[in-house]
Amino acid sequence: MKHLIDLDDFSLNEINSIIDKATEIKKNPHEFSDIMHGKIIGTLFYEPSTRTQMSFQTAMLKLGGQVIGFNNPQNSSVAKGENFKDTIKIIGGYADIIAIRHPLEGAAKAASLFANCPIINAGDGSHLHPTQTLTDLLTIAEQKNTLNGLTMGFCGDLKYGRTVHSLVKTMLKYKNNKFIFISTKELKIPNYIKNIIISSGNSFEEIFSLKDAIDNLDILYMTRIQKERFKSIQDYNLQKDIFKLTTDKLKNASPNMIILHPLPRVDEIDISVDDDPRALYFKQASNGVFVRMSLILHILSTKTDENVENLTLNESCNNKSCITNHEKYLPHYFKKDNNSYFCEYCSREIKL
Ligand code: NCD
Repeated sequence: MKHLIDLDDFSLNEINSIIDKATEIKKNPHEFSDIMHGKIIGTLFYEPSTRTQMSFQTAMLKLGGQVIGFNNPQNSSVAKGENFKDTIKIIGGYADIIAIRHPLEGAAKAASLFANCPIINAGDGSHLHPTQTLTDLLTIAEQKNTLNGLTMGFCGDLKYGRTVHSLVKTMLKYKNNKFIFISTKELKIPNYIKNIIISSGNSFEEIFSLKDAIDNLDILYMTRIQKERFKSIQDYNLQKDIFKLTTDKLKNASPNMIILHPLPRVDEIDISVDDDPRALYFKQASNGVFVRMSLILHILSTKTDENVENLTLNESCNNKSCITNHEKYLPHYFKKDNNSYFCEYCSREIKL
């Protein structure tokens, strides 16, 4: 079974072919309108969503398939106390493929251990959001005709923003991309992502001022401050209004720079920026349907017989937001890299 938990699960060829197929579908959607006849996607959203959930549903409907699921677990047996494993096992028996979003890191990985069908990670806490990355890649490839040699500025909540984590990791698979991280010191990109960049032989810069960074960028990737992940509303209030993209700040940017945002936007992009031809975030959101159509086709037509050997340790993950610290029956799987151990669910290094 083929899952998409992290785009590291896919080869570069697979990623490129999903993007190419999405382009083909976008040109000729009618050719694909019956291809998933009789198939069902389960969309299990334990966290709010507009674009991701509805674009998965639209994607399956446009392929001729059908949709089941929930967008509020309180309307399911989760409200009666059913555990994660049982819910996944049951829906895995009804659906042919599941897209799952959950507030805990590693939830999609955990689901993949129990489901009888492929699992797609539609966002797991502050960890990853690989299908948003596919949407971003399609939009970048369309505009820039390449995914190599780009200077990318990421601005806003780089600590909790899962779309940034997935996109940075994936851009490392292409050549000569540069990363400029624009954030406050409280919302810097996590160290484990920095270590991945360094060990892949790439470099990054961290700066505080959007105004200073903007004139050198090919892509500006704005993000929302992730209110729901803060420990207190006071901490959020201290961060929420620091970065705002305005038409004034854009005067220093290249006419070819593109502005992306996974959306939803709160206040970090002034509405007047929407009229700038460089603002591509609405186009980016509409691309989400085509990449998800392409992804569903890819996953449901690929068989893998790889038997993944998991390393089990008698240790717990130190990350409180990791699903293993909430669903206690989960096996403690780790990955060894050099002399360090990383949680298989949330990717954090564990201290032994
Ligand atoms: C993002 C998410 O859920 O991580 N939204 C999305 O899926 N397009 C970004 C966000 O919520 O800020």
